[in-house]
Amino acid sequence: MPPPECPAHAAVHAAAPASALADLFGPGHEADPKGFYERLRAEHGAVAPVRVAGDLPAWLLLGYRENLEVARTPSRFSRDSRHWGDWREGRVAPDSPLLPVVGWQPMCTFADGAEHERLRTALTESMDRVDRRGMRRHVTRFTNQLVEKFAADGHADLVTEFAEQLPMLVLTQLLGMPDEDGPRLVEASRDLMKGTETAISSNEYVIRTLENLVARKRAEPGQDLASWLLSHPSGLTGEEIVQHLRLVLLTGNETTTNLIANTLLTVLTDPRFRASLAGGQMTLPDAIEHVLWNEPPLAVIPGRWATGDTELAGRQIKAGDMLLLGLAAGNIDPAIRPEIGAPMYGNRSHLAFSGGPHECPGQDIGRAITDTGIDALLLRLPDLRPAVLETELRWTVSWVSRRLVSLPAEFTPRQGDSDTVETERGLLAPDFLARYMALPDRAEPADPAELSTTPAPPRAAVAEPGKRRFRPLSWWRSLWRGLRPGPPAPPR
Ligand code: HEM
Repeated sequence: MPPPECPAHAAVHAAAPASALADLFGPGHEADPKGFYERLRAEHGAVAPVRVAGDLPAWLLLGYRENLEVARTPSRFSRDSRHWGDWREGRVAPDSPLLPVVGWQPMCTFADGAEHERLRTALTESMDRVDRRGMRRHVTRFTNQLVEKFAADGHADLVTEFAEQLPMLVLTQLLGMPDEDGPRLVEASRDLMKGTETAISSNEYVIRTLENLVARKRAEPGQDLASWLLSHPSGLTGEEIVQHLRLVLLTGNETTTNLIANTLLTVLTDPRFRASLAGGQMTLPDAIEHVLWNEPPLAVIPGRWATGDTELAGRQIKAGDMLLLGLAAGNIDPAIRPEIGAPMYGNRSHLAFSGGPHECPGQDIGRAITDTGIDALLLRLPDLRPAVLETELRWTVSWVSRRLVSLPAEFTPRQGDSDTVETERGLLAPDFLARYMALPDRAEPADPAELSTTPAPPRAAVAEPGKRRFRPLSWWRSLWRGLRPGPPAPPR
């Protein structure tokens, strides 16, 4: 096998018919995405020719550095899909499954340069105004409401009854919608992403709801994303605001759902992981970064389009070629991860949020929903455990993501203790913590009545010498550690 940078080798692939290329829509990728990436890497190196949606050629970026190079160089690799040669020359069918994802729309995701800056600044500056503590309180409140629905049963599907519900409920709050809009929007966005026959009417429902929201906020502004976008000096039009709210709602929901599901799966099934989390050697936020390395919620990002003829990792890329950021493949690139099993706790230099000017602006919101939600869930149900073998779990794989279909779990049935976890970080109310810390060791069962009725002792009682020290449950210990600021992110 010639090395990938060999020009003769590159020429063979340039001349190969698209049908001879590995198919990102095919069964090989669906059955085992990571195996598929590794086979391509072994054959082609860091940049592999693939085909998508039938016979359309594209370059799949498998290298960590190549992903970053493309994401960070918009002058060579544009986000504007109108550069796409196959589309300009009429080779993309009007009903192509690619079009909903890559068809150009007047949104920041398809813009470069000054136009991107105008749209994105409105979004990021509005998102920066979100009160993080208030948001964590919403996450805790909604988690408790969701847990309330199944706590007495002793079992639940943590994907459908939790991970798929929580992000949308929180995002609707951030946008300024009433609570009652949340559940219907959860349904509509799931339907839309699944692409069922009702996807179009679900999309219309989402747009209509957002149009009504914008009209309401124009008349009566509040402390929410919709109102801040309306008043932002970038001067977005009404339609631009609706489109960007839809982008936040759908992108934020789908990715965060996936991250919650994958983190729960890891916490519940990987004994090494659970042991180090429970032993307090790491916090849940650290663990989330590990999950973002191994299961990024978006495995592939379509895409970037070459603005002119150029070269990448020895490949001759032609003007108009489509490039797909292989975030999952780049995260397991042996050039940066020679030992794939090594833990990546707390390391933020993965590709899960991409990089460059389009790097995810909602990443801290996604992380906060995930870690606060899982914290609160585990506090309510500390003996949560999987109800099926890991081999029985089902996944759906599309060309852009891999998603857990369900995560059946069981726990000791519980009732009516939802007032536990109101918080600064979404964890524990200080008075509750003080009360709890003043109690005897958990090894002696605490009287629940005492927990709910005894007034909180003064804080000094916690540290009073000679008193038996609180030995927190493993989860509590790691959560307590989580209150401290984490280590700085390593540089990329
Ligand atoms: C935790 C889960 C999340 C993951 C893994 C994730 C990942 C990503 C990725 C990979 C991109 C594409 C960047 C590119 O094209 O190179 C992106 C873009 C984006 N994400 Fe996220 N995201 C998450 C959560 C969120 C949330 C919660 C929000 C909103 C509150 C959000 C809003 C956006 C927006 C608006 C863009 C487009 C940015 C642009 O094109 O300039 N994301 N995200």
